[in-house]
Amino acid sequence: MVGAHGSAPASPGTNIRNTIWTVILSQIFLFMGIQGSGKGTQAARLSEKLGIPHVSTGDLFRDHIRRQTPLGKEVKRILDSGELVPDDLTSQMLRERIGQEDAQKGFILDGYPRTRPQAHHLEDALRGRNDAICAVFFFDLPEEEAVARIEPRRVCTTNTAHIYHLKFNPPRSDMVCDHDGAPLMQRDDDKPEAIRKRVGEYIQQTIPVVEDYEERGLVHHVDAMQSIDDVTRQMLDIIEGLSC
Ligand code: AP5
Repeated sequence: MVGAHGSAPASPGTNIRNTIWTVILSQIFLFMGIQGSGKGTQAARLSEKLGIPHVSTGDLFRDHIRRQTPLGKEVKRILDSGELVPDDLTSQMLRERIGQEDAQKGFILDGYPRTRPQAHHLEDALRGRNDAICAVFFFDLPEEEAVARIEPRRVCTTNTAHIYHLKFNPPRSDMVCDHDGAPLMQRDDDKPEAIRKRVGEYIQQTIPVVEDYEERGLVHHVDAMQSIDDVTRQMLDIIEGLSC
């Protein structure tokens, strides 16, 4: 993979004839797809391999809820019910996160944008730093398979980005996180009624955003039916061919 977008040779006869301009764009990747399609699982792996942070708006909200911050208290009912948090609250939290030092060379966005206003907000934030989206990964998975994967999902109680599946990705010790030894739990919104609501919001609000990115030629489809390792391999192959 390369870190540069190429070079613009100087025009002959100018005093900058020998200068080569290299435009560096950040590795900004968006992971989109139905609930349970593996976005968080792959984001954690690729974040480690690429050395860029995994920014999940769901994890950020759950962390606020765990720490009982004012924002956490405000959004807990919304998350538990499977509704979307209002755009302004989500976008402000996102802008603060991607403004941090570790996100300046790039980041993986998992779960944002989910609405057209959020997509506009992201464009705005990136324009403000002379940056742009490098690629959008769309996780292709039939709805029945995605929903079936959610019930056996378990996450770490101290960091919900540590994701397990009782059958396909079990922890080494029963119900204990491999990373930090904390107990595992089921997410509060992984209940049938909240799952239905989340999928409904996804179809209504997020699919149009994916279609907009398709029109711009940014979308790479990932076959999310494959094993977790094969999905990672497919994504790394795609990234290898990108020019950012
Ligand atoms: P969020 O946390 O983003 O949840 P989500 O979009 O519903 O997505 P999931 O986390 O359910 O699925 P995933 O694709 O990450 O799957 P995973 O890797 O875990 O959002 C939660 C809530 O926060 C929202 O409902 C909303 O209220 C709020 N929110 C967040 N962002 C917002 C925004 N932008 N605007 C407004 N509100 C927002 O995998 C699923 C399971 O399958 C796991 O058990 C995993 O181990 C397993 N698995 C993964 N890959 C495979 C594979 N290849 N084969 C077999 N099993 C696999």
